[in-house]
Amino acid sequence: MFPTKRLEGKNILVGITGGIAAYKSCELIRYLVTQGAHVRAMMTANGEKFISRLTIESLCNYPVYTEMFPEGRYAATHHIELADWAEAVIIIPATANIIGKMANGIGDDFLSTNLLALHCPTVFAPAMNSNMWLNPAVQRNIATLKNWGYGICDPEEGFLAEGYSGVGRLARLEYQVQHLYRAIHPHPESLKGKTVLITAGGTREHIDPVRMLTNRATGKMGFALAWEAFARGAEVILVHGPGSLIPPVEVESHGVVSAAEMFDTVQRHFPRADLFISAAAVADYTPARYSTSKIKKEEQGLTLKLERTRDVLKTMSQQKKAHQRVIGFAVETDNPLENARKKLIDKNLDMIALNNPSEAGAGFGVDTNKVTVMTRDDARELTPGYKLDVAGEIFDRLLGTGEGGRDD
Ligand code: CTP
Repeated sequence: MFPTKRLEGKNILVGITGGIAAYKSCELIRYLVTQGAHVRAMMTANGEKFISRLTIESLCNYPVYTEMFPEGRYAATHHIELADWAEAVIIIPATANIIGKMANGIGDDFLSTNLLALHCPTVFAPAMNSNMWLNPAVQRNIATLKNWGYGICDPEEGFLAEGYSGVGRLARLEYQVQHLYRAIHPHPESLKGKTVLITAGGTREHIDPVRMLTNRATGKMGFALAWEAFARGAEVILVHGPGSLIPPVEVESHGVVSAAEMFDTVQRHFPRADLFISAAAVADYTPARYSTSKIKKEEQGLTLKLERTRDVLKTMSQQKKAHQRVIGFAVETDNPLENARKKLIDKNLDMIALNNPSEAGAGFGVDTNKVTVMTRDDARELTPGYKLDVAGEIFDRLLGTGEGGRDD
């Protein structure tokens, strides 16, 4: 899960309706609180049957809203106060009932009435039995909400509480967070209509059936760029090496292993891309010969003959059309500015993001990075911080949406 500064101080409202996945809302609330968001929650009467109010109150550190007319309140407008307070909302889980009510403008309890009064980005995370989800009435209601601009965090296929598999499981936490991240994004339309192709992670060059050459890249920076591009409304194509990260939601993701596979996959998709960001640590060398049987150890040692792989980034930028922009990364431990500038020119890039993996707070596998972005006539250090926030600043520099830049 990516931490981010963007949630700090944000007013996030979580609505819990009556489904077995209600317990999963706890994990989301916990994440939001750890990111510094102010979280308040509202629950339906059925929601309270699945999870206790006390649990949610303890996590939010704030009373949960449930009643339209609670005792002791002098005015019946607290559903409006809460709607005016919220900067982003997620209904998790969203039952067929709440989806149907919203699509038809019905407010008959606190939560549904509050939904009608909201005027900030709102996400529904449906969870229900697969037959209910596929019911044409539910599908029509979902289409209506989508059409009105609500975010829908589609349910996933998997094992259901009923004891069989189908589509209807609440989307995983990463997907919920990605939708919320988009909901709070200051520039959610800044890549609308654009296709962004991103490479991420390391590649593996096999020597024999049990050995390989690889590097320390985990893909976090590239995946963070994919989250960011999704939040800005882009179509995202992610080509990534092996690893444990979950491909982001609504992203066309292609897993590859070797540098040659990465080259072929990027080559196939590059013509569709408006922007190509090469964040992968692609192997520069591959064994000249693959041994189909395990190489036995010899007393005199082993000399491996390696040959060069193709440079994905350089080849793509040689093919780039006028509307396409190509961005590279440079991993440098010595003479960083000089070496990165050389790559910028040599690979004919529009921008290069330079980082030094040996610096504290940067490098492989960690959540933070320190990056300097360079163009032909500018070099600027970005705010050191979480990879997702660094990804945000990279797009800010590219699109002019940052501080002092153009606002969409
Ligand atoms: N790159 C690529 N294909 C390769 C090697 C690198 O697309 N076969 C891309 C990387 O994704 C990165 C950029 O080129 O965007 C620079 O990668 P880096 O490893 O810093 O440099 P190299 O070009 O490999 O040169 P060197 O290892 O000598 O620094």
